Amino acid sequence: MKNIVLTGFMGTGKTAIGRKLSKLLNMKLIDVDTEIEKSQKMTINEIFKKFGEPRFREIETEMIKRLSENENVIISTGGGAALKQENMDALRKKGVIVCLMATPETILNRTSRNSNRPLLQVEDPLGKIEELLNFRRPFYEKADIVIDTEGKTPLQVAEEIVEKIKVES
Ligand code: S3P
Repeated sequence: MKNIVLTGFMGTGKTAIGRKLSKLLNMKLIDVDTEIEKSQKMTINEIFKKFGEPRFREIETEMIKRLSENENVIISTGGGAALKQENMDALRKKGVIVCLMATPETILNRTSRNSNRPLLQVEDPLGKIEELLNFRRPFYEKADIVIDTEGKTPLQVAEEIVEKIKVES
């Protein structure tokens, strides 16, 4: 079985859906941001604060290259990973890329529960989400499978992914 790579904007449910998929398919779930935090011994927020976003993106690319070598796993990426071709090329070698989509309002709702997204710590988070989402949409749409998560539970989305992957392979 190919790796399943979850991409998509912050708050589209990559972690929750990844967990359900992992149970359904009995495949290990690897979260790129968690691996970065473990390797740097710092939270994503701290990395952004201390080193800035460009350095975070370098660390992210190094980690993605390393994690892409795994087989038979689910890899959940951070919302900015899909913007770099280098990242997606590495992930695609052994994986099928699945992108999760949601509306800006749903994203705001899901991300406002905690403050661990440095890019959304601004006065107008909804405006920021809309701006980033508009810029990023063409990159997200390059995925092999694009799934609308609106109004669906994580389990429903995970089951939809399993069905779509069967059709693809
Ligand atoms: C980011 C998304 C975050 C994390 C970092 C940057 C982004 O991951 O990698 O804060 O640029 O969209 P999640 O999508 O898991 O929140």
